[in-house]
Amino acid sequence: MSWLRVNNLPPHWPEGVARHILDRVDSTNAEAFRLAPSLSGPAWIMARRQEAGRGRRGRAWTDPAGNFAATLVMRPTGGAADSARLSFVAALAVHDALHSLCGPSLNLSLKWPNDVLLNGGKLSGILLESSGAGGQVATLAIGIGINLAQAPEATEVEPHALRPVSLAGETGLRIAPDDLLDALAASFDHWQRQMQTYGFEPIRNAWLARAARLGETITARMGTTEATGRFEGIDQTGALILTTPRGRQSIP
Ligand code: BTN
Repeated sequence: MSWLRVNNLPPHWPEGVARHILDRVDSTNAEAFRLAPSLSGPAWIMARRQEAGRGRRGRAWTDPAGNFAATLVMRPTGGAADSARLSFVAALAVHDALHSLCGPSLNLSLKWPNDVLLNGGKLSGILLESSGAGGQVATLAIGIGINLAQAPEATEVEPHALRPVSLAGETGLRIAPDDLLDALAASFDHWQRQMQTYGFEPIRNAWLARAARLGETITARMGTTEATGRFEGIDQTGALILTTPRGRQSIP
């Protein structure tokens, strides 16, 4: 593994945040936990090639060449609930960074809890992993994968799995992972500051303004069971609110 650049920061890079760019890694989330003991503050870790990317529910995340894989690692000050809210901050940041680079006509939307969709297909996935005990989070890794160049093969057999899409495949647009990292770090910093100053409400409102299928009937997973109902929004904790034939249901 070789370090291409460390702390050679672009103009709008958030103050106090380190930036590491690797040419090759197993998983940027795994690297985040290896690096965490040596860090004095938050850091973005981006890899040009990720060979054993991790997805949600223990799945693998495959990264064809030219796609974006990065992790923001930090020691959060709040507890587990505050950390979970950062997944909404991350989804907003991905959405807004892509709009800032590609223009507002890009057909992006958000799917609960933190997928970013392009033309209704899955463009980006976010995986939060943490270490710690007793409700306290010692290290939080917010891993973000974005299919910039190629959509990975659709391997899921679940009935509601989204079609994987890529930015280049859907639009012909090509953006460099380095440029996206800069825009993403700035956008994440903006939304994180909003949350620090005003709480979750502005995040919730901004997320809802970008949400896909609000008011429509959707099916959501809750552990191993599924619930189908009208998608009403998200509450102050980020839980999904559905109106089902059995009444109002909240999915944490
Ligand atoms: C999902 O399953 O939707 C979440 C996928 C998250 C993938 C990203 S790529 C960068 C970071 N490193 C990993 O190993 N996983 C996340």
